[in-house]
Amino acid sequence: MIDQFGRDITYLRISLTDRCNFKCLYCMPGDPLDRLSRDEILSFDEIVKIVEGATTVGINKFRLTGGEPLVRKGVPELVGMINQVRGVQSTVMTTNAALLREHAQALYDGGLERLNISIDSLREDRFREITKGGQLGPVLEGIDAALAAGFQGTKLNAVIMRGFNEDEIEDLVAFARNKNLELRFLERMPFNSAHDNWDEAFMPVSEIYDRVSRIEGLIPEEPDRTGGPAMMYRFEDIGCRIGFIGALSEPYCERCNRLRVSSIGTIRSCLVDGGELDLRQAIRNGAQPEQIGKMLQVAANLKPLTHSKKQTVQMSHIGG
Ligand code: GTP
Ligand code: 5AD
Ligand code: SF4
Repeated sequence: MIDQFGRDITYLRISLTDRCNFKCLYCMPGDPLDRLSRDEILSFDEIVKIVEGATTVGINKFRLTGGEPLVRKGVPELVGMINQVRGVQSTVMTTNAALLREHAQALYDGGLERLNISIDSLREDRFREITKGGQLGPVLEGIDAALAAGFQGTKLNAVIMRGFNEDEIEDLVAFARNKNLELRFLERMPFNSAHDNWDEAFMPVSEIYDRVSRIEGLIPEEPDRTGGPAMMYRFEDIGCRIGFIGALSEPYCERCNRLRVSSIGTIRSCLVDGGELDLRQAIRNGAQPEQIGKMLQVAANLKPLTHSKKQTVQMSHIGG
């Protein structure tokens, strides 16, 4: 599906829940907004209807997000349901890995293709501070469980904030190298969150890159023009890749290939700005796949050419 600026939209991010077992400083406000009730949240059958609709307009990749997707029960079964829809090429997930140890094997067996895992610190006390009470141990076990279950191509995401975890850039690279996992450093985006003096903590990816480039053996790759938001670099010695996602300082909007659906069924045309459409209402009124596909096309045409800087929404409601 081509949008009005010629971008080919093939990727849908579906938020399964606004809930999360962590409350990351940069993601959740100090006083989280009202929780959504069960009726408001899309059922698995409704999610499958959206997937069916999306395939009619050429969307073939689906990413399950949250909040934290694994706080919802039955996700491995949902993956199986999605993968049965004709036209689906891959179903992937972004998770904080806190519950992954329990679910990794079932997800793999259910047909989940890949995982992106958030990890911003390797120090227990700091991890607890950034996630407001989260424990590092289960996350590390979750990463190992993903490897043991057979997942390939797992990516680690680390949001770097000045004065919080900038001193762990090298340690995170060493960790990723050691596990032979791809690592992406994320610039912090100014979403409505507990930590609102983001200007001070903002660290542009260029600065993160300068730090990483002093580590021996790093060579830039040709920038990947086919999709993802990261600029990639490879370690010559072992082939592990390090990426940099500069959502603010180096926006990737011109290559953006995605739409989003929130846990209550709102299609969001862009992570930051852009229009929204109520897909849940349409589904509950009996919309067929072709109609859902048309709504996705309308949303694609609402995608802005580029996004603005300041944000008022809450990241955990959108799913990253
Ligand atoms: P793959 O490319 O499929 O591995 O996934 P991804 O990088 O899109 O997914 P992930 O959930 O790991 O997202 C990582 C980060 O990329 C997010 O936290 C955002 O910072 C950034 N990102 C993802 N989608 C967008 C987008 O549409 N716009 C912008 N500006 N940033 C995005
Ligand atoms: N800025 C940048 N990345 C963020 N994420 C959550 N909130 C923010 C933010 N304010 C990241 C998470 C996860 C991904 C989906 O989004 O760390 O890796
Ligand atoms: Fe939860 Fe992810 Fe937000 Fe952290 S960044 S609070 S793990 S949704």
